Amino acid sequence: MLTAYDYPTAKILDEAGVDCLLVGDSLGMVVLGYENTTRVTVADILHHTKAVTRATKRAFVVADMPYLSYHVSKEDAVLNAGLLIQEGLADAVKMEGGTAIFPTIQHIINANIPVVGHLGLLPQSVLREGGYFIKGKVEKEIKKMKEEALKLQEMGAVALTLETMIAEVAQEITESLDIPVIGIGAGKHTDGQVLVYHDIIGYYHGYIPQFVKQYANVAEIAEKAAKQYVEDVKNGVFPSEEHIFTNKNK
Ligand code: KIV
Repeated sequence: MLTAYDYPTAKILDEAGVDCLLVGDSLGMVVLGYENTTRVTVADILHHTKAVTRATKRAFVVADMPYLSYHVSKEDAVLNAGLLIQEGLADAVKMEGGTAIFPTIQHIINANIPVVGHLGLLPQSVLREGGYFIKGKVEKEIKKMKEEALKLQEMGAVALTLETMIAEVAQEITESLDIPVIGIGAGKHTDGQVLVYHDIIGYYHGYIPQFVKQYANVAEIAEKAAKQYVEDVKNGVFPSEEHIFTNKNK
């Protein structure tokens, strides 16, 4: 699984064989320039989900439920999830959190909307928690996450994301479940992996977590191309003959 937020990216990733595309609320940070994910709205996710599903032929598309889209009422949550499915054409929605949001998750599943759970580090809780911290270090927290993972499966979640946690804990949770577990910063023993696309291609200038492997440096290539273009225009190298319409070649 990789994140995707636009048509050309989704097309590339779909054709490259990525099984699952996540229209993550990381959109807010890597594309929209916000400091964290709490500014992202349902309208933002819907807009980008439409672009991704227009390009996708085979991958399973998951749309993130953004901050406050499932915290006000169960009814609002179903309508917001429904928008991402009906208008965005997503295959499932993802929601961050455990026990506190279980009644809402159940309500959405009861409306026949596939839900992907998300436990461990919850970026939408950054303001309350005061930062991003590795999960699964304390026995009480481990027990709670294990119970919540089982409960999510029992409620009918179709998959589970585990973010930034001690690898052994992620492994134990994965082994206790039948549904697919997709890890991000959760070691190698989950069923699958997810990363933020902009991080792996080197197209984001912000903080890159330690668990990210960078496969390219697209920012460097893009900057080089833009600089060359500026130079060519200033020096009259561009446009050249082949880029110009004249009476001779019409
Ligand atoms: O928004 C996102 O990209 C995510 C991943 C970090 C799992 O939720």
